[in-house]
Amino acid sequence: MRITTAIAALILGVSAHAAKPAHDIETRIDDLLGKMTLEEKIGQLNQYTGSGYSPDMSGRVKAGMVGSILNEVNPETVNALQRDAVENSRLGIPLVFARDVIHGFRTIFPIPLGQGATWNPALVEEGSAIAAQEASSTGIRWTFSPMVDIARDARWGRIAEGYGEDPVLTSAMGVAAIKGYQGDDLTKPGTMAACVKHFACYGAAESGRDYNTTWVPMELLHDVYLPPFEAGAKAGAATFMCSFNDINGVPSSGNPYLLRDILRDKWQWDGLMVSDWNSITEMINHGFCADRSDAAMKAALAGVDMDMEGHAYDNNLAALVNSGAVPMETIDNMVRNVLRLKFRLGLFDNPYVDMATANRFYTPEALDAARRTAEESAILLTNSGILPLGKRPGKIFVTGPMADAPHDQNGTWCFDLEKSHTVTPLAALREKYGKAVSYSPGLTYSRDKNTDFGKALEMAADADVILYFAGEEAVLSGEAHSRADITLPGAQTEYLRALAATGKPVVTVIMAGRPLAIPEECNLSKAVLYSFHPGTMGGPALANVISGDAAPGGRLPVSIPRMSGQVPLYYACKNTGRPTTEMTLIDDIPLEAGQTSTGCTSFFLDAGHEPLFPFGYGLGYTSFAYGTPVLSATEMPADGSIDISCTVTNTGKRSGSDVVQLYVRDPVASLARPVKELKAFEKITLAPGESRTVSFTLPASALAFHNAKGEAVIEAGDFLLWVDDSSACKSKPVEFRIK
Ligand code: BGC
Repeated sequence: MRITTAIAALILGVSAHAAKPAHDIETRIDDLLGKMTLEEKIGQLNQYTGSGYSPDMSGRVKAGMVGSILNEVNPETVNALQRDAVENSRLGIPLVFARDVIHGFRTIFPIPLGQGATWNPALVEEGSAIAAQEASSTGIRWTFSPMVDIARDARWGRIAEGYGEDPVLTSAMGVAAIKGYQGDDLTKPGTMAACVKHFACYGAAESGRDYNTTWVPMELLHDVYLPPFEAGAKAGAATFMCSFNDINGVPSSGNPYLLRDILRDKWQWDGLMVSDWNSITEMINHGFCADRSDAAMKAALAGVDMDMEGHAYDNNLAALVNSGAVPMETIDNMVRNVLRLKFRLGLFDNPYVDMATANRFYTPEALDAARRTAEESAILLTNSGILPLGKRPGKIFVTGPMADAPHDQNGTWCFDLEKSHTVTPLAALREKYGKAVSYSPGLTYSRDKNTDFGKALEMAADADVILYFAGEEAVLSGEAHSRADITLPGAQTEYLRALAATGKPVVTVIMAGRPLAIPEECNLSKAVLYSFHPGTMGGPALANVISGDAAPGGRLPVSIPRMSGQVPLYYACKNTGRPTTEMTLIDDIPLEAGQTSTGCTSFFLDAGHEPLFPFGYGLGYTSFAYGTPVLSATEMPADGSIDISCTVTNTGKRSGSDVVQLYVRDPVASLARPVKELKAFEKITLAPGESRTVSFTLPASALAFHNAKGEAVIEAGDFLLWVDDSSACKSKPVEFRIK
């Protein structure tokens, strides 16, 4: 059985170490460094935002004062500035142009959270390679992606930008994105350097409020937040970005434990560390640095190589070197990391955009991949049997603020979006069903509070089926767009009540940047399809899934809460001393009941203790039966491994995919362990009646956890294991031991 390389790397501890820089690259770096003045060295450490071809920027580039430019995507301007660097500066060091190409450049793929929902690393790799081809055709050779921050609080707007709540899933997807962007040879045209961000713990922001403080003990840091970064470093990611937040009081931009001890010394990574936008200077706001000079010193000593738009390095590093506060050796190493990136990208030999092949977007292959990814990221949460609609479902009323929202269905971070290329669900459904489709939005945008739904309700009453496209506009998630209330905004729930009251069956499709708390919406709908923001080809993908031309391939990369107040919410929680064996919910508590009337276990009176839908969950259009997992041995030494296989059968009438998930629990340990942890997964597609035996190798090292010193510990003892189709693990666990 095939285990994808990414997953194999995690499970088997196989490390695809960043390729050691070729000897001649290091020689060329040393040679160049020997010729550089201090000012030219510091020049390489600055990244500035582009604003066209200005005399100011051109002058700075010619003087060797600029290492990188972000946000310049006109290939002619890129070439003009590059000419200033290569042909008109003293040493001819090329610039590297960077951009946030987060889920596609022009062809927009589902948001990363939606890509996480595919549980298909090969698709993420394919989409990232397409993004690299499109972006590099404008001169962009460095993207600030993937974001591998674990996010367990759906209030955080940036949950949209990562692959969800789990370190194993996030690692696999992050590695796939890196491979897609960078290919097997970064000097090849059509590739971009990846940037693994935000190092670290940005997703642990208290209460999900963006940029907020994080408190992360060593055990959690090493067990949950760092593994995807380690996987990225070992997969050869060319660059990293540090995060805005402070961790236990120390901002990442000045954090030598993370940037040096872990990343450089322990993981032996030799790439370029860029700050986040102005994050070095923001250490003053944090209350960690007195002024820009202090901030520059702390960042340089901690290990930030490049200052993104913060003007801390350009104005202060020279004086800090001259005073001895920052050793020249530190500067030299920072410059080495910048030059190494430029050599790795082949920029010294091939600095210009080839105008003959510039601006290549929207190839049929790109659009096809975007559609397939959106189909595989759509998660069917409930289905009374109404889906798929089939070829002739009668009169279809399409409605809701997201049915025809070509900007908003693409989600956050689409700087280069051309919405005229987006195909909306309305357009795709009209194409598929022709005159059977009628349309009225009911609400014009997701925050619309107008409850005069006009003629929409009359049209709904006249239909055979209602397709209600609800959700969040793009701007309600992403950076600095956290929400305290994660329900459907505006009057969308009220509108759904009115639609359901017509007595006609409603299929609700949610396009959003986060998991929204939608219990009532599920009750009011005959089926609920969750697609996050699906991108350029979201319309055709959803129309295919709704009709049955494609099956919904998504599984949840995050838990869906019942209520906002449940978050942070994640499946890999601890059991507590009082796990929920019994509970009395708020409306069932007798009047003047005694203090112990609720059951005294760990739950919310108004939300219980379970998510609305668990991590890993999703329905398809067929059904699967799982056999009992078979283990190659029930005991292994601390340096051993066990092979696990499980036979899965498609017991339904049509072909379909399922994600086979391996979970483990360590019931007794020197530190209380989560009730379940994902250790491996494999997405399979089976024809009706077909069976397949899925195999995983589980080394004892994958069962290690970290102590308060950040050391990995493997403890002998009994473990429980499930092979199942979601983290709810309804099957009986199998036992094994580490000797
Ligand atoms: C974000 C980064 C992004 C950078 C450059 C920052 O505000 O936090 O994720 O890459 O801007 O645009």
